[in-house]
Amino acid sequence: RSVRVLGAPLDLGANRRGVDMGPSAIRYADIEAELAAAGVDCTDAGDLDVPRLETSSAASRESTGNAKYLDEIGRVTETLATEVAGTIDDGAVPLVLGGDHAVAMGSMFGAARNAEDGIGVIWFDAHGDYNTPETSPSGNVHGMPLAAAHGRGEFADVEWAETPAVSEENTVLVGIRSLDNEERAALRESEATVFTMREIDERGITAVVEDALEIATDGVDGIHVSLDLDWLDPTVVPGVGTPVRGGVNYREAHAALELVAERDREADLLRSIDVVEVNPILDRDNRTAEVAAELAASACGKRIL
Ligand code: ARG
Ligand code: MN
Ligand code: MN
Ligand code: MN
Repeated sequence: RSVRVLGAPLDLGANRRGVDMGPSAIRYADIEAELAAAGVDCTDAGDLDVPRLETSSAASRESTGNAKYLDEIGRVTETLATEVAGTIDDGAVPLVLGGDHAVAMGSMFGAARNAEDGIGVIWFDAHGDYNTPETSPSGNVHGMPLAAAHGRGEFADVEWAETPAVSEENTVLVGIRSLDNEERAALRESEATVFTMREIDERGITAVVEDALEIATDGVDGIHVSLDLDWLDPTVVPGVGTPVRGGVNYREAHAALELVAERDREADLLRSIDVVEVNPILDRDNRTAEVAAELAASACGKRIL
């Protein structure tokens, strides 16, 4: 297994400065050593060049209506998608380090690019990230990437999102506990599968992730795994911009990603990963980045025995 780390220090999709330091914080937590311990052949391609808030004109917010900085984020999406597709072509798994969750659009559109039978996605998150520019109460694009990947709403008119990256049928959300009203309605009428925290309470993380893997991998070339650190409980990972109480604990998170790695060992299904929303400014002792690095290693096959 070889993995290529791609840093994507984007913060234009979130309301909080500091998430742009996520890639640095995760590298400081020694993701290379974590991946080496997982027996992974790892290279680091450095950081993508992303526009800075200070140098973006306030006018761009006006020009894209309710979705803040959508033009700038769209350009980042296209650049990242090209890097991700190229990495897969080279036979490596792209591991994208965010940055806010808007970077997942680049991951998914890139992973889908040369996938003849398409891709599936497992979305580990407290949030659905299923708003569109017209439904979003915040205007923050990090609350929209999954809807963009489905080409929903106004995204159908955005050039880079015209062709959906992933089918609704092969989309599974896991650990959800915060949805906006219109977002909830959109998810309910979509073909995506949503496992809320309640399913994890009732059936346990292993059974839920087994189901998620079966649904996401059905008939496709491989899956993208998107890990928003706010999926975990904020007591475990304080360094996230939109914490929601009642998330999975440390051990459940590892169990989930170890299961992904186990299935990947059997069936080679992992196409790309992103690890997003680490904000070291809100953190304590870089704990959130450390957990991010450890979970990435579990997803890439780190084993105890
Ligand atoms: N639903 C809220 C919004 O649309 C929060 C989204 C949080 N997303 C995230 N990737 N942390 O603004
Ligand atoms: Mn989230
Ligand atoms: Mn998210
Ligand atoms: Mn593969």
